[in-house]
Amino acid sequence: MKIGILTGGGDCAGLNTVIRAIGLYAYRNIKNAEIVGIPDGYSGLIRGESRPLKEGDIDALLGQGGTVLGSVRTPFKMMTVPEEDGQTRLEKMLSNYKKMGLDCLFTLGGAGTHRTAALLCAEGCRVIGLPKTIDNDIYGTDVTFGFHTAVDVAADAIGRVRTTADSHGRTILVEVMGNKAGWLTLHAGIAAGADVILLPEIPFNIEKVCAAVQAAYAKGKRSCIVAVAEGAVVDAEAPYKKKERAFVRVERGETTVTNHLAEVIGESTGAETRGTVLGYIQRGGSPSAYDRVLSTRLGRYAALLAKEGRFGVTAAVNGSEITFNALPDIAGKYKLVDPDSELVHTAEEIGICLGR
Ligand code: F6P
Repeated sequence: MKIGILTGGGDCAGLNTVIRAIGLYAYRNIKNAEIVGIPDGYSGLIRGESRPLKEGDIDALLGQGGTVLGSVRTPFKMMTVPEEDGQTRLEKMLSNYKKMGLDCLFTLGGAGTHRTAALLCAEGCRVIGLPKTIDNDIYGTDVTFGFHTAVDVAADAIGRVRTTADSHGRTILVEVMGNKAGWLTLHAGIAAGADVILLPEIPFNIEKVCAAVQAAYAKGKRSCIVAVAEGAVVDAEAPYKKKERAFVRVERGETTVTNHLAEVIGESTGAETRGTVLGYIQRGGSPSAYDRVLSTRLGRYAALLAKEGRFGVTAAVNGSEITFNALPDIAGKYKLVDPDSELVHTAEEIGICLGR
């Protein structure tokens, strides 16, 4: 069986661990297994490039950050648009899949990667997806690989910010990644003891956030930490879409939600405020032990699905089990934080302000 592997979308910790697990399982348990890595996500398949991934190449990948295959974002909506040569990217991928002689393709990626995977499946390719992202926003799986490592990194960073905030008596706003989902901010914020956590799913009221900052100092705290999801929205902005919101912010001379909020909190409470963006450190580096185990389980399971001839699916976590979903059932859907969930209530009931 000739197996192709590609990694799509933004990278995260655990991608190499999954590649390793697929390879280790396949070379031991699938007859005549031959594995090739396709570089730069779907771009490599569009170009028709691949390189062999031998057993000896993959064993060292266990704890290596990033992706040895490289990743390039290739937007789903561009897949069916004809390029200069008249052919669509989808047509090129289908033809290269055949030319490479692939029997199946593993696509390690997030929601966007899964959408294209579903498209390839609909056209007859045998595809198995694996749920990757620090955002943890893939529909149909309790958790994605890469998420817990990012939580560890973000929680550690917020804890470090707390000590400097304490020294100077400051209010520091820490911007956390996660796109339109608040999972990373919610988990890291709780783990690091943030005073305020602002999520895209719960539009926040600025007065309530300012009151929470004042309350923290009134209680005798020396500092206040506000964990802000990059997609957090002020309640007045909630009706707007992401692009419209960005436009309105620019019109008003605001840069990001974090910077704007830092200014408003400073003006209205008198606190000395600072903002800091955690950024790509949340995606980089070695996977945590949790993610190494999860990635290994997912990789082995996906390879088992291939051995059993089950394609058009994506591996998923359901409670303590590894399972699968049909790609068309989950492609294009997102899993967001439920504002009425137990975790959100837990945060609020121990005194963390969620801005509502
Ligand atoms: O999807 C992962 C993610 O890190 C998001 O949290 C973030 O919004 C986005 O990718 C950043 O994308 P890029 O790598 O294209 O800057």
